[in-house]
Order: sequence, then structure tokens, then C-alpha cells
Amino acid sequence: MTLNSNAFQRCISPECGATFSPENVLVSCPTCGDLLDIDYEWDRLKVPKQLSDFESYWADRYLPHRFSGVWRFHELLPFVAPEDIVTIGEGQTLLQRAERVANYVGVASKNLYLQYEGMNPSGSFKDNGMTAAFTHARATGATQAACASTGNTSASLALYSCMTRKMRAIIFVGSGKIAYGKLSQALDYGALTVQITGDFDDAMIRVREVCRELGIYLVNSVNPFRLEGQKSVMFRVLEALRWEIPDWIVVPGGNLGNSSAFGKAFIELHQLGLIERPPRLAVINAQGANTLHELYNHQGLRWNGGQGNQPLVQTYYSELDARHAKAETIASAIEINRPVNLKKCLRALDFCDGVVRQVSDQEILDAKAQVGAGGYGCEPASAASVAGAKLLREEGVIAPSDRVVCILTGHLLKDPTATVAYHSDDQKKFNEVLGSRGVKRASFANHAIAVSNDLDEIMRAIRLYA
Ligand code: F0G
Repeated sequence: MTLNSNAFQRCISPECGATFSPENVLVSCPTCGDLLDIDYEWDRLKVPKQLSDFESYWADRYLPHRFSGVWRFHELLPFVAPEDIVTIGEGQTLLQRAERVANYVGVASKNLYLQYEGMNPSGSFKDNGMTAAFTHARATGATQAACASTGNTSASLALYSCMTRKMRAIIFVGSGKIAYGKLSQALDYGALTVQITGDFDDAMIRVREVCRELGIYLVNSVNPFRLEGQKSVMFRVLEALRWEIPDWIVVPGGNLGNSSAFGKAFIELHQLGLIERPPRLAVINAQGANTLHELYNHQGLRWNGGQGNQPLVQTYYSELDARHAKAETIASAIEINRPVNLKKCLRALDFCDGVVRQVSDQEILDAKAQVGAGGYGCEPASAASVAGAKLLREEGVIAPSDRVVCILTGHLLKDPTATVAYHSDDQKKFNEVLGSRGVKRASFANHAIAVSNDLDEIMRAIRLYA
């Protein structure tokens, strides 16, 4: 199995810029420690002249790599030969126009789109990246793969491991920090599940150490191959818009892998002459896990030509440690204080004239209920995108006539606890799950009605409420 010799790994630091062969298993630059990109000798590769040329490949959907919603854009992530791709049919996701959500956000009713990544095989966008990481892992002969996770990466890793039967999955989760839907997946799919005391940030530090010590393949988004797969979310959005560029892409920010991958997608499409301009990018933090918001909006952290400002970031993390501050949000998927892709996200924000906002758990859950009532539904973290779009509209940053795409990163069923508590009319139950998060009310609650098992009473209730 060979990796493409026209692909290579490159340190993102312009001062270093060291390059490495794709055969190497790396999660940081061995020379300077910065993040790595996958880069290509585009001149030597066959890339379609215009994006609509990809449509001609749809006729070949019987080929696994043309069926996959990731690999049917293979020419834009050509690090491996098509016959060596590991795919389970990921990326069959939809861009849905959502009028009700448009009204909620405050844009024209035809202008709000939801990109529903919950439709992936493991129920989240992670499969877009996992297929790419697995393809690379297999090419390098790995037999064990690990990740730290708030739940979705682990579900995805566990699924790819059991379906492809080629890899032992080892997952690290913070104890009590993972929604039940996601934990159930890892357990059912047979992953070795290590619950460590602490949160995602603690688990991330440990998994890196363990992978280094034991030579295990790491599939977190510090792995540059994963982000190659996640670029395809943007390709599918453009495809659904008949290759038109929307005004805004709004995405939740946790470990900042998605925003980084989206930025890289647009940088490359622009470099290849396939788009004239990128959309604007909005990255939305939860208020209780708002490192990017703090550093970007209050401390002026920027990409700065690739220099970033590591001392500023380090000081911020030292202050968090001194205060024993931990990330806290109902959107457990993005309960992260030390986003590993911070610098790449800054690059994306720089290229896409981006903005960063934070939203409260109250705003997240209200937005989630609106998505549930007028879209496919989503888990709490995903709804941060819709809550963020609403906030940006209220601020006048997004105009009513703007075309806005919100990324719904995970399936509604991932976190039933939060959803059921939100819709509950039992105040005790509501407070147990949501009270400590500062959620005061369920503005769009749909209470279940309790009726005794009596035909007349049931019919009376239906006449009253239906
Ligand atoms: N939405 C969902 C549903 C997620 O699971 C995650 C991340 C994010 C948003 C944030 O995306 O990291 O690319 O900024 N979940 C990771 C996990 C951390 O372990 O499943 P990001």
C-alpha cells in the first residue's frame, strides 16, 4: 500500500516549514513542535478545472471511493490511491433549507441552511475525518488506534475499528463527561474504554503520552490526515449550493478541528483557482469553554502571518491552571479549554475574515429546540452554531439578506439526557440536569402530558392539546 509521493506533511510555522514524508506517523513537527498540515504538489496532480466537474463522477457511485461523501472529492485530498481508501460510506449528509430556524435567527426564510452531519454512520461529523485517519493508519501498518474524546471521536473510532476489523480502538474519556448516546456506541462497538478522572483536556494530555510511549496511532485532530477528510464538509456544502459560495459558514468551536479544516479547504480551493472568494467563517464557543473567544476577542490573538503568539496563549493557560478553572457547559462535546488546533483555526479566521462569539447554555438549548422543531434536530454542541448565528444577526454582523450555513455537527440522539430535561415539566428533573448550568427556562419546551389509562381521559386530553 503506497501513499502518494506528491503529498507531504509540512509544519505550519512559516519560520520552520519543515516537511516530512506521508509515511511518517506524526502529530506535531519533530523540529519545532508546531502543528502539521498535509500539503500537495498540486502541479503534478490531476485536479478538476472547475468544481462542477466533480458532478461527472457521480455516475460512478458503485465505486466505494465515489460513493463516500468524503472520497468523491478525492482529487482535493489525494494523499492515497483510491484502491487503498478505508471507507464505510461516510458523508452522505444533507444541506437542508430551514425556514423556521431562519425566522429564529432573523434572516430571510430562504437563506438559512443546516448542514446535517449527524447523518454520518456514527452520528457525527467525525466520520469525515476518521475515514482519512484510518486510511493513513492502515497505510502505515498501525494495528492500534487511540483518541481522547468528549464522545463523538471515540464513537467514530470505535465504529471504524469494528467495521474494518483491522484496528484495536482505545479511547480515553473524562469520567462523567460523556453523553450516554456516545458512551453506548463505544461500548457496543467493543472499544477498550478508559475513563480517567478529569475532563477532556486531561484525557488529551494523557492520550498523547500513552500513544508516544506505546507507539499507538493517535486519531485526534492533531493528526493532520483527519482534517483532510473534514475539508469535505465544505465541498458538500458548495455542491448543494450548486457551487455558489454562501456568505457565512457558522460552526461550533471545541478542539477547533472543523474550523481549521474548513479554512484549509477554502485556502486550497482559492489557490487552485476553483473559488474566487471564501465565505466568512464564524466560530462559536460555549460560554463555559471559551478560550478562543477570550484570546481572540479580548486579548487580540491573531494568526499574525503564522507567528501566532505562544507566550500569550501559555499565560492564558497558566492563569486557568492557577484558578483551577475547568470547562463547564451542557454542550459536553465542546467542553474544552485547551483547543489543540488553536493556531490552525486562527489561520482559517484570517483567510475567511472570520469572527468568534460565545453563547450561553440557555441560548444553546433554546436554539437546539428550534432546530428540533424545524430541522433534523441536533445535539447541544451543534446548536451553538444556530445560537451564534442569531447573536451575530442581532449584532448586525450578519445581514437579513445573507446566506448562512450552520453546521449541525452531531445527531439529536447523542445526548437524550439534555433534551428530555429541557422538555420536562418536572422542575426537579429540569434543575438536576440544567439548573447548575445557569439554564433558567425552556423557552420552547414541548411537555409530555400525563394521562391515566382511561379512554375518555385520553381523548379529552387530545381534544384539549392537539
Ligand atoms: N460538535 C460536536 C458534536 C463535537 O463532537 C465536537 C467535538 C465539536 C462540535 C467541536 O468540533 O473540535 O472540531 O471544534 N468533539 C470532539 C470529540 C472533541 O472528542 O468528540 P471541533
